Amino acid sequence: MSDDESTSFDPVADFYNESAAHMYAESVVTPVVDLLAELAGSGRALELGIGTGRIALPLVARGVLVSGIDASQRMVEKMREKSGGNDLPVVIGDFATSSAEGELSLVYAVFNAIWNLPTQEKQVACFQNVARQLEPGGYFVIELFVPDLLNISPGHNIHPFRVDSSGMSFDLYDVVGQRLTSHHFWIGIQGMRSFASEGRYVWPAELDLMAQLAGMRLSDRWGGWKGEPFTESTRSHVSVYSTGAVAPSKKGEYAWNIVTSAAPGSRCPSPGLAATTSGCASTRSRRRSS
Ligand SMILES: C[S@@+](CC[C@H](N)C(=O)[O-])C[C@H]1O[C@@H](n2cnc3c(N)ncnc32)[C@H](O)[C@@H]1O
Repeated sequence: MSDDESTSFDPVADFYNESAAHMYAESVVTPVVDLLAELAGSGRALELGIGTGRIALPLVARGVLVSGIDASQRMVEKMREKSGGNDLPVVIGDFATSSAEGELSLVYAVFNAIWNLPTQEKQVACFQNVARQLEPGGYFVIELFVPDLLNISPGHNIHPFRVDSSGMSFDLYDVVGQRLTSHHFWIGIQGMRSFASEGRYVWPAELDLMAQLAGMRLSDRWGGWKGEPFTESTRSHVSVYSTGAVAPSKKGEYAWNIVTSAAPGSRCPSPGLAATTSGCASTRSRRRSS
């Protein structure tokens, strides 16, 4: 695979639901759908890397109009086989450059989909593509792992993270190219299956810069979908970017204080936002570390 090529999910489509079974648990899906439904409000949502509809289908069931983009025809065919899966408009293409119809209140990329963009150029292009499609005050939500470099010692580049009777998974880091390949092996009655997913790992701060380049700002960052704090031991984050305006933070007191373009007194779309006299402000201000 060349450095500029995305991983194809076609080979894993037939057993994706099975291999990612833990990600379909109600306890995993419900908090994701709760937050996304809240952020979408009465607007339209777009999922980047919609896959087999793990999140899109329950979000539609909540009454949100959802469309999707995915590079894998096979993954989307698997969604089409599910109840309601034929009703969603999906563009087959690269989500760094493809777009959906109409203006959107929410774009989201969950389960590490942004990592699958293989280069910084593509990741930057993706933010710009999203910003172009979002309505003012719209949200871009990313769920992405925090690179686990503290778990690899100098001179080593392998981090195993699943070893059990069903098989094993390990990450292979290329710290010079800032790339990561995740290798998965499953052992079952049909023999052994494997899948390698590749991409460019990216730090939260670099995502924030990409958002800034695209005219968006970080509105909230959590350690999980229920608003868990983002700390030094957080392994995966949920970051919410907004096309709204950012109010200057109180120097030395808070890291940031987001004010969207929502009218005072109106309903604030993010659970982390509360109505103030100047609009919607973050209720989850964080103290500066310096
Ligand atoms: C880990 S799966 C996640 C699927 C689904 N979002 C979920 O949460 O179950 C990543 C999905 O993103 C798609 N994908 C990866 N890179 C892509 C790209 N550059 N453009 C469009 N789709 C892409 C893959 O085909 C795959 O369906």
